[in-house]
Amino acid sequence: MTARPTLLALCGSARRASYNRMLMHSAMEALSTQADCEELDWQDVPPFDADALEAQGLPAPVLRVRQAIAAADGVLLVTPEYNFSLPGMLKNTLDWVSRGADQPFARKPVALLSATTGPLGGARVQNEARRVLLFLNAMVLQKPEVYVGNAASKFGADGHCTDAVTRGFVADQMAAFVDWVARVQRMNAAG
Ligand SMILES: Cc1cc2nc3c(=O)[nH]c(=O)nc-3n(C[C@H](O)[C@H](O)[C@H](O)COP(=O)(O)O)c2cc1C
Repeated sequence: MTARPTLLALCGSARRASYNRMLMHSAMEALSTQADCEELDWQDVPPFDADALEAQGLPAPVLRVRQAIAAADGVLLVTPEYNFSLPGMLKNTLDWVSRGADQPFARKPVALLSATTGPLGGARVQNEARRVLLFLNAMVLQKPEVYVGNAASKFGADGHCTDAVTRGFVADQMAAFVDWVARVQRMNAAG
């Protein structure tokens, strides 16, 4: 059982000025007194190709992502919504990670957060993500949920979240997630 959990954060956007990365940093800041959390750079994962790549062994970037997830006590997935769904590159990475009986999301605590420039904050992408993670047997935190709509009005030029209500939602979710990680660890230890 880990007293201070080690968490991993994946941002679903590759954009330099990504609101989701800003949101991820807000979550990491909220976590800082309770957990260690590192961002995982997964942008070098190649397109999934079972013939050319999987049959010859998993590519090095895929192995690195799988190992980082396996080593973490829990994962934050902070993602934009693209056309009501997951960004293709992120889905591609989840597809790579999903392969094999030792896929690292099994029984892994996961927290979902999303930010969009529109008003809904990614409600649809989180439903999609939950379906994918259900198949991977991940232990997704149900509540509280974090959907940040109208994101452009909630982060300053320096990337900090300027909206106290949003910071409160994020802090509440991160506190619940640390508790969830400990609960899932106890459950996994019990067999
Ligand atoms: C290809 C594409 C599809 C998008 N589809 C949606 C969508 O379905 N729902 C939504 O709320 N915003 C959508 N958006 C707008 C995103 O919310 C906005 O671009 C956001 O800033 C992306 O996240 P990021 O700032 O972390 O890169 C889409 C943007 C792109 C580039």
